Amino acid sequence: APSDPGLVERAARAKAALGDRVFVLGHHYQRDEVIQFADVTGDSFKLAREAAARPDAEYIVFCGVHFMAESADILTSDSQRVVLPDLAAGCSMADMAALVQVEKAWDRFAELGIAGEIVPVTYMNSSADIKGFVGRNNGVVCTSSNAETALRWSFEQGTKVFFLPDQHLGRNTAVLKMGMSLDDCVLYDPHKPGGGLTDEQLRGAKMILWRGHCSVHGRFTLDSVHDVRERVPGVNVLVHPECKHEVVTAADYVGSTEYIIKTIEAAPAGSAWAVGTELNLVRRLANAHPDKQIMFLDRNICYCSTMNRIDLPHLVWALEELVAGRVPNQITVDAETAHHARVALDRMLALP
Ligand code: 13P
Ligand code: SF4
Repeated sequence: APSDPGLVERAARAKAALGDRVFVLGHHYQRDEVIQFADVTGDSFKLAREAAARPDAEYIVFCGVHFMAESADILTSDSQRVVLPDLAAGCSMADMAALVQVEKAWDRFAELGIAGEIVPVTYMNSSADIKGFVGRNNGVVCTSSNAETALRWSFEQGTKVFFLPDQHLGRNTAVLKMGMSLDDCVLYDPHKPGGGLTDEQLRGAKMILWRGHCSVHGRFTLDSVHDVRERVPGVNVLVHPECKHEVVTAADYVGSTEYIIKTIEAAPAGSAWAVGTELNLVRRLANAHPDKQIMFLDRNICYCSTMNRIDLPHLVWALEELVAGRVPNQITVDAETAHHARVALDRMLALP
């Protein structure tokens, strides 16, 4: 639906009043009505770098989800304030790994005598607490655009990786990019005693995957890939690495949201693409490339509900509060956690 013209005008007026004091970041999964006010759009990696590169902006308004705003707070200076227009914009994947659970797993590895050889790696899609844990234990953060590089670095530091919280990104990167086998990977389930793994399984594994997943990407199925290939002969299947291993294996191309966009932009006119990622992004790509046939990989899968919580009314409210001299929904990470999380984030930003 087109944006309410009254709200569009109010957002534009508030943004103009704030000028360079505000910088608005928009993740690719945000609604069109929000994206139109973003100073920059990107995947989570690009947005983390952009936030760090704006030392003059007093306010960073983060149109994305909670863990992204936390990362922005960690990477920006103390005087900068990060605002999340709706505090309910969390991430179900990030919520699947709580610090107490992760510390319990690590204790088990320590008792087994293998913690010293394990490098913890956390996907950007995790809380600041988890990034802090990883920083304290000589690990690194990764995103879907640098997971392979992060894993290569990690296997230079140790012989095993403890990958949090997305089992699919971990498995897909290990098997499809690093040449490991599925048997090299084990799944640690925080809801089972001992993670549901025997000592032997833990000793033998190269990748210990946390049992977490994305509630949007985890829903694409192998059947949806087969169906679209039947319906649309010659279609290219392009998916995000948060999809299940069988889906990624059956696809033609796999990569982060930035990669997905670049691939579509470079595709020849007339080519057909079934894209397995969030709906806002796929729809925007289809609208931007009417000369290409761009479709959603599975018509039954919808928006990321938490990303979608940031809508134009929330953005207008946040901007108008800033104009009025108040800072709404500020996201802050405590200094101790931020210090360790920053170590893990800086290690990522320093990867080749
Ligand atoms: P990227 O932005 O790293 O592609 O991750 C996708 C995602 O699920 C963000 O929440
Ligand atoms: Fe989290 Fe998935 Fe939504 Fe990204 S798309 S914010 S990983 S639930």
